[in-house]
Order: sequence, then structure tokens, then C-alpha cells
Amino acid sequence: MCGIIGIVGTQPVAERLIDGLKRMEYRGYDSAGICTIHDGALIRRRAEGKLANLAREVAARPAAGEVGIAHTRWATHGAPTEANAHPHATPEVALVHNGIIENFRPLREELRGQGRTFESETDSEVVVHLLSLRIEQGMSPEEAVREVLPMLRGAFALAMAFRQAPDMLIGARLGSPLVVGYGDGETYLGSDALALAPLTQDITYLEEGDWVIVTRDGAQIFDADGNPVERPVTKSGASAAAIEKGNYRHFMQKEIFEQPTVVAQTLRSYVRQLERTVALPQIDFDITRINRITIVACGTSFYAGMVAKYWFETFARVPVDIDVASEFRYRDPVLEPGGLALFISQSGETADTLAALRHCKQAGQTIAVVVNVPTSSMAREADLLLPTHAGPEIGVASTKAFTCQLAVLAALAAHFAVKKGRLSAAEERAIVDHLLEAPACLNAALNHDDDIAAMAHLIAPARDVLYMGRGPDYPLALEGALKLKEISYIHAEGYASGEMKHGPIALIDDLVPVVVLAPSGPLFEKTVSNMQEVRARGGKIVLISDAQGIEEAGEGCLATIEMPKVHPLIAPLVYAVPVQLLAYHVAVAKGTDVDQPRNLAKSVTVE
Ligand code: AGP
Repeated sequence: MCGIIGIVGTQPVAERLIDGLKRMEYRGYDSAGICTIHDGALIRRRAEGKLANLAREVAARPAAGEVGIAHTRWATHGAPTEANAHPHATPEVALVHNGIIENFRPLREELRGQGRTFESETDSEVVVHLLSLRIEQGMSPEEAVREVLPMLRGAFALAMAFRQAPDMLIGARLGSPLVVGYGDGETYLGSDALALAPLTQDITYLEEGDWVIVTRDGAQIFDADGNPVERPVTKSGASAAAIEKGNYRHFMQKEIFEQPTVVAQTLRSYVRQLERTVALPQIDFDITRINRITIVACGTSFYAGMVAKYWFETFARVPVDIDVASEFRYRDPVLEPGGLALFISQSGETADTLAALRHCKQAGQTIAVVVNVPTSSMAREADLLLPTHAGPEIGVASTKAFTCQLAVLAALAAHFAVKKGRLSAAEERAIVDHLLEAPACLNAALNHDDDIAAMAHLIAPARDVLYMGRGPDYPLALEGALKLKEISYIHAEGYASGEMKHGPIALIDDLVPVVVLAPSGPLFEKTVSNMQEVRARGGKIVLISDAQGIEEAGEGCLATIEMPKVHPLIAPLVYAVPVQLLAYHVAVAKGTDVDQPRNLAKSVTVE
């Protein structure tokens, strides 16, 4: 996901533009650039790699001016080179873009036919030439923007600077978020409120299709039809402190250790502690009429949905379909009336998930979202918004958002069960009691951090690692494997324990550690017997269980990680901690970039 910031300022902006990019580093990027307007010219500086390279470039060749735009690029079209870095520019126009212009090829061919030459491989550069051509023909920036935006297909957040209009910028959004910020005699554009946090808390979230002219006097917003519109100014609440590591070495480490606190604060919004009942936000549809739930998400959020499937079907007896978002639409799903489509997303901006949401909305499904950003696109397009209260999650690898998602989903499943008469008051109280045990159990799990750090060297040299679990712990095996893959770059796969003997067990030898998630409980014996099948073939087992489980099955394991004894309901939340910590410490041992792993973005806003 690229990062955008623009400033129409009252003092030199280059340094603040780069600072704004630093607050978006967590989104993932591979090149960056700025462009200011000064003395009737556009001054552009770009660099491959980290922001330090751009800062050195700007120090060596200053970019003067009080108005400018800046960008961190996560490559979609074209390698992460300086030539492909944003801003893209002609002498008249400079532009930064987040998203994909899906019809850029025909547009580029048409422009080449008009004599335009391109310096990059990117889709974004097409927009610069479409605008520049019109300005060179005498249009004003506003006229050029009005004419060009409707020509674009796909998703874009744009910030544009114009040589001939040194006291303004123009922004536009369709499918990728863009906000306007209001300062003291200054006005800003940003990908999100976090990017503008040190500059202002006064934010306007542009709606789909909006575009905006920002000057020192404020913002003029136009809708997709070009009509002036008013959009509310809200207090963002995003604090610069939220994106500080504090005493932690990495954001991911900080966010793993925040889990007891943020899960507790999330639960406070979903249970009444005194009455020991579930309490959801106002629901404007009749839950009793929901006959099927379709869960759609990506990555870690998808694994949260897999756990939730067990809960909805066990507690509420509501059938659940679940799909990864990138596949969902292409199986032409059967979406009957009376269905609920449930989307799970930390960012609320993941393009695959957002596209699936819009598909379901079009098909008449009731839309519910579990998101960590209540101002996100998904949040704004849902019938029912169920926010997690994890706070900003900066590490690319999702951790606290995952456990907060599970807390919300457990409460939602219980609420469904109560409304459908499937859960007695006593059973509801028991579920709430177990949920309220989660923060303390998460704390207890975190107390094993040193043990896990000490055993990371057993995993770090591996080329392949397997994870296995049963029931609601099977999605945890998938999540554990994903965590290890994405931050340590070690190949890892998660399997249902019972599935090992149907092929994957052929992989077992003493070079392939196998991490077994097996809380003592109804599925323990079967999981352990699958574990013994692995051990009988020389497999090296890392057993994650509680004292009772380790007592029964820990003998001969490569290592054991002891968890607190937990109710099966909250095992998926609590057992997330050891797999997060294991991945973290292995990645640290390998020296990879834990918070911004190679090739990854915090939110993938392209399909
Ligand atoms: C998780 O650690 C990954 N960063 C990734 O799988 C992520 O969960 C996925 O891209 C979905 O993101 P979202 O929750 O913001 O939609």
C-alpha cells in the first residue's frame, strides 16, 4: 500500500513531507519521492529503497518551497527503481498515486500516439500526461482534473501539484483512501489520519469519487459528478504516540505485548461484565432471519474467520461458508436472500476484501464488517460495523488485531446463538466468563517470552517448518505458519493434524521441525496421536500445550512451550501468542526486517 502526503504550507515543506512519509513506513514500500513548487518550477527528488536515501538526496539537492507532495511506493507496475518512483511529473504537473489504473495501457498507447514519451513503466505516469496535455492546451488545473478523472478505471488516491498554481494542490479518491487535514493557515492531504497526526487532528475523510482543491484557506470538495459538496470535519484521535515503539525493539513486539490490554478494551465494548451478557452495537436487521453466513477475508483475518466458523456453527447452528477474498467472486458464489456477508479486515481497505464486500452488497446480502479502522472504506459501506479496539497496528505482521478480531467474533457468534434461542442465559454467562478470562491468560502466555526466545535457535536454521492443530486450533496452525513465513522468510505450512498422514508426513525428517498446537481438552488425544505418527518418523516436535498436555506428551520433544490451562473457547486467542513470539524471535535471530518484511505491505490496496 503506497503512502501519500501533501502540504499547502506557510513554511518550507520538504522536511515535513519526509517526516510524514516516515509515519507511513509501516505500510511497506520500496522507493520514495517528493515534489515541491518553488519559483515557478516543480522540484522533484526521488530515491530507491529506504527513506534515508531520499533524505540524503534532499540534503544534497534541497527542494525549496512551501507547497509539495510526497509518496512511498509499494511497487505494482514496474520494478522499485528511481525511474518508477513517484512523484511522476512533466514540467507542468507532478502527481503521486496509491492504487491501480486498470485501463492505463490503452490510455498510454493513445498518449504515445499523441507524441507523449514515458520515463517509467508505471500505470500512474499515464495520469500525469493526461493532465499535462490539457494544461499545455490551455486548461486550468481544475478543468484538466474534471476532464481526466472520469477517464480512469480502477482504484486511485491522487495528490497533484501544478507549476502554474503554486498555492494549491488537488486530491482525488476512488477505491483508495485519502483524507484532508486542516492546520493553522495550512491544509494537508494524506493517505490516512495517522500520516497527518503531528500536523492536525482535524480531518475530513473523502468519499468515493470525491476530489478536492486544497489551499491555505481550506478545501473545496467536489463529488464524482463534479458538484461542490460538504464533508464533515472530525477529530481523528490518531496520535503520533500510537506510532512510537516505546521500550520495544519493534512495533510487532510492542503489539504482541499490547494484546492483554487491547483484548480487554475490545471486550468491554462487546460484553456487559456485571450482567455477564453479550452486548453488541445496535443491529438494524433481524438476526433470527439470517439463514447463512458468508465469511470473506485475507491472510490472518481469514484465519480469524476460520475460527469463527466453528463458533457460529457450534453455538448458533448457522451454516457458514468461508472464502479467501481473492477467490470468492470467481467461484460465482450462491448468495441467497436472507444471508449475512461478514468481512474481517484490520485495515478495512484490503482491495480483494473490499471488492468481495461490494459484490455481496450488490447481491442483496446484509453486510457486517469486523475492522480495526472505523473510518475505513469497509466500515463506511457496511450495514453493521463491529470495530476492534486494537489501536493502530503498525507492524506489517498482524498480531493484536487478530486476537481482537477473535474476541469480537466470539461475542457475535454468542449473540447470534442467544437471539436464535440456541444459548441459555446460563450458557451465555459461561461464554462471557471465559471470554473475560482471556486477558489474564494472554498475560500468562506472554510470560513465556524468554523460553520462546531461548528456543528460536532451534527453528532459525530450518528451511521448512510444519505447524499442526485440530478444530479451532487448525486455523492457528495456518496463522503460525504465516507469521513465520512473512517475517523470517522460512517456508512454513500449517496443516490439520489429521491431514498429516494424507501426504505431508512424507516431508518429515530431522530437518523439518513440526510445531504442534495441542491444548489439553476434547481434541488433545487425537492431536497427540498424529504427533506420535510424526515422531515415529524422526520428526522434531515443538509441543505447545498446557502443563497437563506437556506432562502427557512432552517426553522426547525438541522443545515444549507451556501455556496456561484455558477453556477451549479462548484457546485460539491464547495460543496465538506463542506462534507470534516464535515467529518474532526466529526473525530477530535471522536479522530480517521484522516490522517491514521484504515485498510486503501493511494493507494490500490492489487486487
Ligand atoms: C498478516 O500478518 C498479513 N500482514 C496479511 O496476511 C494480512 O492479514 C492480510 O493482508 C489482510 O489484511 P487486512 O486484515 O488489513 O484486510
